[in-house]
This record gives sequence, structure tokens and C-alpha cells, in this order.
Amino acid sequence: MINIGLLGLGTVGTGVLKILEKRKEELIKITGDDINIKKILVRDLAKKRDIELEGGIITDNFDEILKDEDITIIVEVTGDLEEGYKYVSESLRAGKHVVTANKALVSKYFEELSDLAHKKKLALLYEASVGGGIPVIKPLKELIPFNDIKEVRGILNGTCNYILTRMEEGLDYAEALKIAQEQGFAEADPTDDVEGLDTRRKLRILGTLALQGQMPEENIIVRGISNITAFDISNINKMGASVKLIGEVKSCEGGYTAIVEPVIVESSSPFYNVGYEENAVFVKGDNVGDLMFYGNGAGMLPTANAVLCDLMDIIAGSYRLNNPLGNKKLMDLSLAIKGSYYLRISKINGELMDVFKSLADKVLSTGAQFALVTKHILRKDLIDLFENLGIEEKDYFIAKFDKINT
Ligand code: NAP
Ligand code: HSE
Repeated sequence: MINIGLLGLGTVGTGVLKILEKRKEELIKITGDDINIKKILVRDLAKKRDIELEGGIITDNFDEILKDEDITIIVEVTGDLEEGYKYVSESLRAGKHVVTANKALVSKYFEELSDLAHKKKLALLYEASVGGGIPVIKPLKELIPFNDIKEVRGILNGTCNYILTRMEEGLDYAEALKIAQEQGFAEADPTDDVEGLDTRRKLRILGTLALQGQMPEENIIVRGISNITAFDISNINKMGASVKLIGEVKSCEGGYTAIVEPVIVESSSPFYNVGYEENAVFVKGDNVGDLMFYGNGAGMLPTANAVLCDLMDIIAGSYRLNNPLGNKKLMDLSLAIKGSYYLRISKINGELMDVFKSLADKVLSTGAQFALVTKHILRKDLIDLFENLGIEEKDYFIAKFDKINT
């Protein structure tokens, strides 16, 4: 019997139990063994669960799981950053393999935990931390020995993509966010989704693996979607385009650029038709060329499926024991990012309008909502201009055009 300790029984944890139950016979045939969830850690023992559980399986005491020598694999799906870190690091120190979907903890403690797992000769797998059900971490690790990865870019947050898709259908922002929360896509605090912080964590994980060097999360430039309005969506759609929250890491001469921001994609873009909670990740390697990974980026069963694929790799012994992180010194050159931007400002006077018009390639609207398309400019100059003119972030929205990429 393979005994597992499951930490967390929310959206993802419940999905793990559901799939294991549904696929029980097939799994016994494949592994020749019974995969047994021996203990489940939760925060609130009294909470009503909509899944049937054996008596005594649930606990709120992590030590019961840590000290159980029959439990050899931990599946961490709590979403708690610091407690999650404690569970994962103590589990590895105690000689247990770990699977986690917790991108906040992977991003924050990536180097330390990778090193610990490597020293202990244990698996630390985190496929579900990026792209929900899409296999992307494992393929990326497989590409690294044979490729210099030049670029990774993607729609990495299901909640934001869901909101943007539903707004294009006419729904209002708050209503779309509410549904994303009800569907279990959003983080416990959806600020992490809509302000781009979740995308930034995923980008940090992908970028660190891809470029084989240090890429601190907090240095990555981030802009979310919380300021977008129906007016912006309408302007962008009128151009025959769509807006997506995209995280992008590019390798360049002497370093890298990394940014999370709203991007306007035309119908010819592979990102254009990625809708609702779907995610897509583009990877460019010098030998493999261009690759695109696409599928459900959030939700109970797709995410649980990714967790279980990691679990199966541990059971089958088909995971790599090397530390997947490199130690290249990388220079952050993100302040050199340039582009053409859509910008909309609410609350603006005629004098300020003239300042922005000097940057314009095309003025879209001069009413109460002032909107234009800028020339090809340094992003930093645009942000500095807003700051210097005292225009608060809540009063404007910018999105980069995908067609001019440098
Ligand atoms: P969730 O629905 O909020 O469930 C969290 C579960 O963990 C709950 O059962 C909760 O206990 C338990 N928990 C939370 N903090 C705990 C603590 N300190 N100690 C013990 N138990 C604790 O979260 P989720 O949506 O399943 O997400 C879990 C993880 O997967 C997160 O890291 C998330 O970012 C990641 N993820 C989620 C998705 C998705 O689509 N939902 C996709 C990819 C990755 P109670 O039930 O008692 O409250
Ligand atoms: N909150 C995350 C999202 C869950 O919406 O993408 C999947 O990582």
C-alpha cells in the first residue's frame, strides 16, 4: 500500500480524492498497489464537507502526518504560504517526497526547497503550480538540458482570463470575478489574481527554470487587470483585438526582461482564442523551436489531475533527482522594455491631455474618458509620466500591443 498524507481538502484536495476514487481499479492495475490517502490535514475540523470520508481520516494536527512513518508522500494543497512552507520543508527533512500546487510557496522558497529536496534525494514536484491542468513544468525541465530557452510567455491566470472573457461578452467586472470565485478558480484572496501577483509567481517559477538563473519574484514588473473598464474592452474589441493578462520572460544580450501586464492580441495570435479559465504557455528553445502548451488553467479536476501526474511520477520512480535550478548570474534589463500602448485616463484636464497627445500615434477618445494609442515608447517613460503628473493608478489603464514586440 502507498500511503499519502493529503494537506488541504478544498477545491484541489477534493479533486484529488474524487479522481483517485473514480480511477481506483485502473490505478491498482498500473501500479500493482493501492494508493491510500491515509490522513488529510484541514484547518477547520467542524467544516461540512461535500465528500464522504472514512472516520478518523481528517486531522488538524500536522504532526500526526509528519510522524507517521507509513506515510511516504505528502501532497500539499493548502494554499497557505508560511504554514505550507513549514509543512513542505519539515516533510522533506523527515524523508517524505512532496507534491505541491502552492505556487506562492514554490516561488518564495524555490531555491531553498529545491536544494533541500536534492540533498535529501527526494522528489519535490509542482506541476499544478503553473497552468493548472496543463503539463508545462515537466516538459520545460526536459527541454533545459538540450536548449537555451529564449522566451517563455503565457496567459497564466485562469481567474483573470475568465474575467476578461466574460467582460468581452458584456458581463461586468465584479460579477465575472464573483463567478470565478464560485467556480473555485480564484485564490483565497482574489487580489493575488487580479493584481497579477499570481501570474508573477508563476512567471518567476517558469523563468527561473527556463533561464537557469536567479529571477527574484519581487523584481518582476507587474500590472494586473483591476483597473480595466467596459470602455477599455469596447475600444480594444473595436480594433478586432482582445486583451489578455500575459507574463513574459525573454532572454536578451546580457540578461533578461520579465513583466506581467495586460497585452492586446490580434486574431492571428495563438493567445487570441484562449478563453475563460484556460491558460496557454509559449516556449521558444534554440533547438526545439516554438512550443505552445494549452488547456484548463484552473479548476478542481484539471488541477487535481496535474497533482496526480506528479504523484504517479513519484510512485513509478520516474522523476529526476538532479536539482532543476541553475546558478547563472542574470541581469534584469526589464526597464528597457518598449512598446506601443493603449492608454485610457479618467479624470483628465485639457492641459494634461495635450501632454499625452504628444505621445500619440492615434487619439481614440477625448471625452470624459480620454483614450489613445501611443507611439513606440519606453514603458518606463510612460509610467514615470503618470507618476510625475500625479495621475493615480486607479484612474488609468494601459495595455501593450502585441504586434510591436521589442
Ligand atoms: P482552497 O479551496 O481554499 O482549500 C484549501 C484547503 O486547505 C482547505 O481544505 C483548508 O482547510 C486547508 N488549509 C488552508 N490552510 C491550512 C493550514 N494552515 N493548515 C491546514 N489546512 C489548511 O484552496 P484550493 O483552491 O484547493 O487551492 C489549493 C492550492 O492549490 C493553492 O496553493 C492554490 O494556489 C493552488 N491551485 C489552485 C487551483 C485552483 O483552480 N483552485 C489551481 C492551481 C493551483 P479548511 O477546509 O478546513 O478550510
Ligand atoms: N487562482 C489561480 C488562477 C488558480 O486563477 O489561475 C490556478 O493557479
